[in-house]
Amino acid sequence: MNFQKDPLGFIRTLQKQYGDIFTVLLGGKYITFILDPFQYQLLHKYHKKLSFQKLSQKIAVQVFSIKILENYEDLNDELHGVYQFIQGKSLDLVLENMLQHVNQMFESQLLKTTSWNTTQMLTFCCSIVFEITFTTIYGKVPTDDRKNFINELRDNMLKFDDKFPYLLSDIPIELLQNVRSLREKLIKCMMLDELAKVSGSSEIVQKRQDILEKYYGLKDLNIGAHHFALLWASIANSIPVMFWAMYYVLRHPEAMEALHDEIDHLLQSTGQKKGSGFFIHLTREQLDSLVCLESVILETLRLCSYSSAIRFVEEDFVLSSETGDCCLRKGDMVAIFPPAIHSDPEVFEAPEEFRFDRFMEDSKKKTSFYKRGKKLKFYLIPFGIGATKCPGRFLAIMEIKLLLLVLLTYFDLQIIENKSVKLNYTRLFFGIQHPNSDILFRYKAKF
Ligand code: HEM
Repeated sequence: MNFQKDPLGFIRTLQKQYGDIFTVLLGGKYITFILDPFQYQLLHKYHKKLSFQKLSQKIAVQVFSIKILENYEDLNDELHGVYQFIQGKSLDLVLENMLQHVNQMFESQLLKTTSWNTTQMLTFCCSIVFEITFTTIYGKVPTDDRKNFINELRDNMLKFDDKFPYLLSDIPIELLQNVRSLREKLIKCMMLDELAKVSGSSEIVQKRQDILEKYYGLKDLNIGAHHFALLWASIANSIPVMFWAMYYVLRHPEAMEALHDEIDHLLQSTGQKKGSGFFIHLTREQLDSLVCLESVILETLRLCSYSSAIRFVEEDFVLSSETGDCCLRKGDMVAIFPPAIHSDPEVFEAPEEFRFDRFMEDSKKKTSFYKRGKKLKFYLIPFGIGATKCPGRFLAIMEIKLLLLVLLTYFDLQIIENKSVKLNYTRLFFGIQHPNSDILFRYKAKF
C-alpha cells in the first residue's frame, strides 16, 4: 500500500537502506529491483535465465484472451518481423496516411469551432488519438458509419482499458463486472468481416492478417484477439502521453512560446503560411527537426512513465553485479524501475519540475546525461529495454508531435480550471500513469 501511495518515496527508502539491488514482497510476489542504471545490462547478460516470454504470454492469455499455440514462438517471431512496417523508412508512408486523416479530422470537425468550445482535456485527447491511430493503422470507416463505429469502439476500448490493471493482477475476470463480454465484443469487432467495412488498412495489419490466418486458420476468433491487442497497445499509452504533454504545455507559457516559434519557423520555411485554410504537409525529416517539440514530449515521458522491464527467474541462480552477488529464486521476478533514474536529481536537476528544454542543448537534441561522473546509456526508458522494447515508439512520438503541432498552430487553447492534476499510480510497472482527474480547457480555431 505504501508503494502504491508513493512509489518513488517507498523505493528510495529501501534503496538507502539496502543499496541498488534488493528484493521486496509486493502483492504476494517477490520482486528483485535493479536500480543502478549502469547495471541494467544484467538483464541482457542473464537473458537465458531471466525470461520475458512468461510475462508476455500471461498478458496475451489473461488480458487479451489469445490462445497460446504449440508453435507460438514461431508465430511470435513472424509477428515481430512485421513491426518493421511501423519503423524506419516505412514510417514515411504511415505519416502520409496519418496526415491525410489529421487534415480530414481537423477540417471537418474541429476547425468549425470559431467560438470557444469547453471540454474535458483527457476526453478530448482520447477522442483525437483514438480516431487518428485507428484510421492510420486499421483504415478509414465509410462516412455514413464513421461516427457511430469509431465512438462505440473507442468507448468500449476505454472501458476495457480501465480494467486492464485488474485483469493483470490475478483477480478472476468474473469479478470484474462485464469485462468478459466487453472483451468478446471487441474481439469480434476486430475480425476481418467487421474490418471489411474499413478501407485502406496499413501494411502491418495486412501482413499480420496473413500470418495469423496461416497459424489459426481463417475466421478464428484468435485473429480478432491479436488485432485487438495491437489496437490496445497503440492507444493505451499514447492517450495519456498526449494528455500530459498538452497539460504541461498549457501550464507553462514559456514552453508554449518556444514551441510556437519553432513551429512557425518550420511552417514558414516550408511555404505553409498560417491563415490560408487548413492544410499541413510535413515530411518525417521536418518533424524530426522540431527539437523543442521533441524535448517537450521526452520531458513528459520522463515525468509520467512508470514502465518497468520485468523478467521471470527461470532457475535458481546467483546474479553477480558490480556491487556484489544476489541469489535469485526460480519463479520470482526481476525488475528495473526507470522512474528511479527519471527522478534522480544527480541526473536531472530539479527532477520534479517540468522543464520543456531539458532534452535540448544549443538547439540540438541533448543526449548526454551523467551519473557519478559517467555518461549514461540509459537515462530515459519509457519504452522498455533490450529486445522487448516497444516497436511502436517511433510512430507514437511522430503522432503526438503531429497532433501537438496542429493544435498549437490552429487553435487558441486555455486551461480554465484552477487545479493541479497529479499521476494516479494505477499502472505502476505498466506504462504511462493516468491523471487523477480530468481538467476543463477551452479551444477556438484561430482563423
Ligand atoms: C507513448 C506511447 C507508448 C509507450 C509509452 C509505449 C510503451 C511500451 C512498453 C513499455 C512496452 C513493453 C516493452 C517491454 O516490456 O520491454 C510496449 C510494448 C508494445 N508496444 Fe508500445 N508504447 C507506446 C505506443 C505504442 C504504439 C503507438 C504502438 C503501435 C502502433 C505500440 C505497440 C506496442 C506493441 C505491439 C508492444 C508489444 C511488443 C511485443 O510483442 O513484444 N506501442 N510499449
